[in-house]
Amino acid sequence: MAADHKPAPAPEARISDLGHHDGQEVTLKAWLYNLRESGKLLFPIFRDGTGLLQGVVAKNAVSPELFETLKNLSQESSVIVRGRVRADKRAPGGYELDVSDAQVVQRVAESDPYPISLKEHGVDFLMERRHLWVRSPRQAAILRVRAEIIKACRDFFDDRGFVLTDPPILTPAACEGTSTLFPVDYFEEQAFLTQSGQLYIEATALALGKVYSFGPTFRAEKSKTRRHLTEFWMVEPEVAFAGLDDLMDLAEGLLSFVVQRVLEKRRRELELIGRDLGLLEKVTPPFPRITYDEAVQRLQEGHAQGKLESRFEWGGDLGSPDETYLSQQFEKPVMVHRYPAKVKAFYMEPDPQRPELALCVDVLAPQGYGEIIGGSQRISSYDLLLARIREHGLPEEAFQWYLDLRKYGSVPHGGFGMGIERVVAWVCGLEHVRETIPFARTLHRLYP
Ligand code: 4AD
Ligand code: MG
Repeated sequence: MAADHKPAPAPEARISDLGHHDGQEVTLKAWLYNLRESGKLLFPIFRDGTGLLQGVVAKNAVSPELFETLKNLSQESSVIVRGRVRADKRAPGGYELDVSDAQVVQRVAESDPYPISLKEHGVDFLMERRHLWVRSPRQAAILRVRAEIIKACRDFFDDRGFVLTDPPILTPAACEGTSTLFPVDYFEEQAFLTQSGQLYIEATALALGKVYSFGPTFRAEKSKTRRHLTEFWMVEPEVAFAGLDDLMDLAEGLLSFVVQRVLEKRRRELELIGRDLGLLEKVTPPFPRITYDEAVQRLQEGHAQGKLESRFEWGGDLGSPDETYLSQQFEKPVMVHRYPAKVKAFYMEPDPQRPELALCVDVLAPQGYGEIIGGSQRISSYDLLLARIREHGLPEEAFQWYLDLRKYGSVPHGGFGMGIERVVAWVCGLEHVRETIPFARTLHRLYP
């Protein structure tokens, strides 16, 4: 036959998938993560976004030029590598690659090396270079867990007859209190970035029965805590003909589903991040449910035992230290229900047994993570809702459409909002929400 035979093209493989290619020649599109040298051998470590893979380059297996090129390759240079996959029990992912050929796509200049080395850097340094930091294995693993959590939320609702309805982001009025609105100049009018899709999905819930929204929400909070972002993603279900108990069942079902899904699909990432999986495995129904009154009692006991600095008085909203303290007392998320109406939003249905309380629930994640879900039954009476809008000094005209929902076929209904970043922080066991989203927006950060 003719002599112009080329080597058969090697199938493209991704590092997480090498199990299907043991013993085969493959092509890998990747970046150089690290490089070790030992005499006639080079040990480049590649990353391709799915994992890390150690390559072995033997001097006698490649051309002298290629050996020199690889030997001097700088961190984060992009490459297309060819080689044979070899199972190796000692290798982190279980495989190594015997490199036979490589093409450098872009070589990072030695005069301007990749700024994030494998040694430790401070968080400010890293946040300033977040566009590069997301490449590090730990950060990439967190983003994969985030994506899995988002998919799990969607699957949970989609499979249970909920319809996704997208509320607007530009809104004319406040939903969660006026103090944390981001104003937007909307032509000649004043608009705001949405704090929550809730009011709008109350409308779609009365149209479709069970709905949810999933999108970015905004709070102009001046708080500089490890739990607050100014832009965060919220998933919000809203259900017609539902009461507080139905909402608590739903929240418990959602959280358990999400955590078990991540354990099933992203175990490797959680291990890489260093999460204690045993704690997550416990997240199954039922969750403890305590009233606000009971929470106050626990907080006062905590104070009496010297575990809390100040004594919590009935009537206040729980602060971060209170939530931390309470959530440390449980292995599973704890649902705290029936807060004083005074500390909660204007739209919450009062408890008919004790009208000073709202039919609401906050879910606090264990290990001190605090509130991850907030929700309530909504006021269904037109007159009461109007009175509350007036009491809160909200612009009545802007809420005419919302009041209409109580005029035409009003029903008991409710829902909740779950903050994705707080859930990611808890599931991954992170100190701060800034690592749970590709580009965090906080009080002091708008770059990159
Ligand atoms: O408790 P919140 O303010 O509730 C609402 O917005 C309701 N309208 C939701 C509803 O009933 N449909 O916020 C809900 C959740 C919180 O429990 C928390 O997880 C998250 O959103 N969240 C934040 N996450 C990060 N940064 C912030 N500044 C957040 N504020 C709230
Ligand atoms: Mg809340």
